[in-house]
Amino acid sequence: MTSRGISRRSFLSGTLATTAAMMAPGLAWSRSNDLLFPEGFLWGVAASAPETESRLGRARSNWDVFIDNIGGSTDGTTNKFNVEFETRYMDDLKLLQQAGVKSFRFSFAWPRVQPETAGAPNAQAMGYYDRLVDAMLEHDIKPIPTLFHWDMPLWAGDFLDRDVARKMGDYAELMARLVGDRTHTWLLFNEPGVIPILGYGAGMFAPGYQNLDYMGRALHHVNLAHAEAFKAVRANAPADTKISSAFNMMYFDAPSGKQEDIDSAKLANAVWRDGTTMPAYGKGYPPVLMQYVDKYIKSGDMDTIAVKPDFFGLNFYSRFFVKANPNAPLGHDIIEPPKELQRTEEMPYDPDTFYQVLVDTYKFYDEPEIIVTEFGFPIKDAAPQDGWVDDPIRIKFIKGYLESAHKAYQDGVDLKGMIYWSATDNWEWINGLDKRFGLIYVEHPSLKRTPKRSLEYFGKCIAMNGIA
Ligand code: FCB
Repeated sequence: MTSRGISRRSFLSGTLATTAAMMAPGLAWSRSNDLLFPEGFLWGVAASAPETESRLGRARSNWDVFIDNIGGSTDGTTNKFNVEFETRYMDDLKLLQQAGVKSFRFSFAWPRVQPETAGAPNAQAMGYYDRLVDAMLEHDIKPIPTLFHWDMPLWAGDFLDRDVARKMGDYAELMARLVGDRTHTWLLFNEPGVIPILGYGAGMFAPGYQNLDYMGRALHHVNLAHAEAFKAVRANAPADTKISSAFNMMYFDAPSGKQEDIDSAKLANAVWRDGTTMPAYGKGYPPVLMQYVDKYIKSGDMDTIAVKPDFFGLNFYSRFFVKANPNAPLGHDIIEPPKELQRTEEMPYDPDTFYQVLVDTYKFYDEPEIIVTEFGFPIKDAAPQDGWVDDPIRIKFIKGYLESAHKAYQDGVDLKGMIYWSATDNWEWINGLDKRFGLIYVEHPSLKRTPKRSLEYFGKCIAMNGIA
């Protein structure tokens, strides 16, 4: 599978010739041992405020409105309590520290920080995030903030409004000033491409529009807001801060081979991923998107948007399969994966595509450093027994993706880290509490935490800086 016509063979022949030149001298030793990652590899786990924090102590968000309006997630839950991370984070940090986890990607809740309006933040919210960052450091865990993981206060409006970019910049400045001195790697947006496609095109996420014109408009404004956030963090955090976003790089395929299905896959790839990554790297919009965005582009916008992130934050779960359907909001449906692929509860387990996406991204974006900012597996876990949850399938899948990552690294990709989604089980948007991705099991309604064997396994990989 190739995503941009770069065959695996041509990538390898191209890179092997240059690998020696690319390798920093200090990395050479680890490349001779095929189980190890380079020194300083960033190992972490991820979570987000809207999926872990309760609604208490913050203003209503776009996601509260959306989920209440549709009557809750598919399992009947809402985001009211989630896993109460804001009061229980010490329990989680303790378990993560015991396992040897070295970094934690978390997010700020904008509706907590600026509940009523722009400008001065809420003092309690600022105190909480300040303490959270300190607590991570005290547990020997490097905090990696995500500025915006899709939850907006209602006063901020939505991405149909170009002015959202200014509001985002204001919010970014506050957070960079608060924790910039203790955080050296920043993710601005979580999966910016998902906002226009699912929120404004398919109507599956907040705010729930099904309108392709809105999708294009929101996409362009997401990109402008991203640029404002980038500028604000760059200006207010120490100069050596590394800034990027967590870009969703899942890959859409058309197994039928029919032209209309291939066209659908092309559009899906363009909006989910390339419509945010290409402009951020100065490569403009994918041509297939111009019909949706063109009328919203003002003079100078494309230069503003081309922030050239300091590294490529890459989220990858799986390959998805599409089929044209003129009656669907986006003109296509996501269809069942081929039977031969092993799968998690909701998607294929696809280590080969993961490898290929790493390679293609590295090539296409001119050889950036890459941090995998999310990979993870929803599995129906057994109940805790004797203080542990046994989850051998998750361990097997983690190992498979680590092997793909390692192969990409050996083949020349400048891979700097792997962050597992997620630290704890949490509230998985429209799928609710039922979809368990965590390395830590959370019982409901007690919210008691129990480590899974996969946490122990991940800790072993971290300890050896390789694949256990
Ligand atoms: C990613 C999202 C994250 C979570 C995981 C399972 O696409 O960034 O919030 O939903 O999927």
